[in-house]
Amino acid sequence: MHGRTILLIVGGGIAAFKALELVRALRRAGAHVTPVLTENGARFVTALSLSALAEAPVRQSLWDLEAEATMGHIQLSRAADLIVVCPATANLLARAAAGIADDLATTLLLATDTPVLMVPAMNVRMWQHAATRRNVATLRGDGVTVLDPDEGEMACGEYGPGRLPETEAILAAIAAQLAPTQAARALAGRHALVTAGPTHEAIDPVRFIGNHSSGKQGFAIAAALAAAGARVTLVAGPVHLPTPGGVTRIDVVSAREMAAAVDAALPADIAVMVAAVADWRVEAAPAKLKKGGAGPPALTLVENPDILAAVGHGPRRPRLVIGFAAETGDLIANAAAKLAKKGADWIIANDVSAGVFGAESNHVHRVTAAGAEDWGPAAKDAVAARLVDAIVETLK
Ligand code: CTP
Repeated sequence: MHGRTILLIVGGGIAAFKALELVRALRRAGAHVTPVLTENGARFVTALSLSALAEAPVRQSLWDLEAEATMGHIQLSRAADLIVVCPATANLLARAAAGIADDLATTLLLATDTPVLMVPAMNVRMWQHAATRRNVATLRGDGVTVLDPDEGEMACGEYGPGRLPETEAILAAIAAQLAPTQAARALAGRHALVTAGPTHEAIDPVRFIGNHSSGKQGFAIAAALAAAGARVTLVAGPVHLPTPGGVTRIDVVSAREMAAAVDAALPADIAVMVAAVADWRVEAAPAKLKKGGAGPPALTLVENPDILAAVGHGPRRPRLVIGFAAETGDLIANAAAKLAKKGADWIIANDVSAGVFGAESNHVHRVTAAGAEDWGPAAKDAVAARLVDAIVETLK
């Protein structure tokens, strides 16, 4: 972040005061901040505080002749390495999505070719409103990174998603957007869909069938895809891992929920199915099963939908479909068989008999129609980076 320039647009919401904390954190990290305060933003924070913390003059109007003479607004919008809108109100999102340019902030957004990161904060109903959902989808489709707000108690007393994410999470998302050299922006404009973690299949209201998947490898891949500039949707089974910066996370529990979330997230350019999906579910009992009497209950298993195969053979097949194979024997042969069965371009095969679950490292082979490649033992982050390099190479 050091030496990079961030144009920070502060919108008019109660969370605007947190933008001041963000400015301090950015300055501490060595970034230059060019602050822009909207008319409504100025009702929540003063230009003076913003300017003092940013150590730079605040731009507030399109019609400030003196400021325009120093640096015109078109140049202003392009001189930055990243434009951050924080807080992005429902109104700002709507105007940006519609391409309206009726003040300095929206004019800058329309005039720029610099990457844009929006950090929404608003009332939970406003965030969930169909109009906002549509606007967010439009912006994301246009290549804008829109973070998901945090869930919690809101300034207005309601509870739900709408809170401004923590400063650290915003910083991480900014870092992910900036990290990139030219090569690392290689997936800009692409949508990547990743599944990760286990699924839990209910036996009754208190018990489930699960597996040892920790989600670490899938989360590392989602983070690496986001760092390469892709828009990432991460469908996560029940795991306790932080959401990587710049990634849209959808939490699910069962295989059927995961299948529905994956279907709803399509279309995508890239699918990486890392989740350890339970192959079978149980016809769940409506009430807790009790012991005693007629001996242990017999569980009837029903096969779950194969999510990877549905994507790989489906009508909206992403250009690149990648599956994982967890095997305890005949690694390459079993993985190769899954290529055709699942309609995948590559299968990343790992031997799970050797304590991979929950570990920080992995030993995988990439199996394609052309054969198998041993990637050797490596940290899960390194496996993710190598996989993303291979994805970039293939989609060139
Ligand atoms: N997979 C999936 N949906 C399922 C089962 C598996 O999407 N219902 C995906 C996994 O995410 C992984 C790949 O398929 O990318 C292979 O998973 P694996 O468990 O190794 O294969 P299975 O199809 O379950 O075959 P088997 O258990 O018989 O080896």
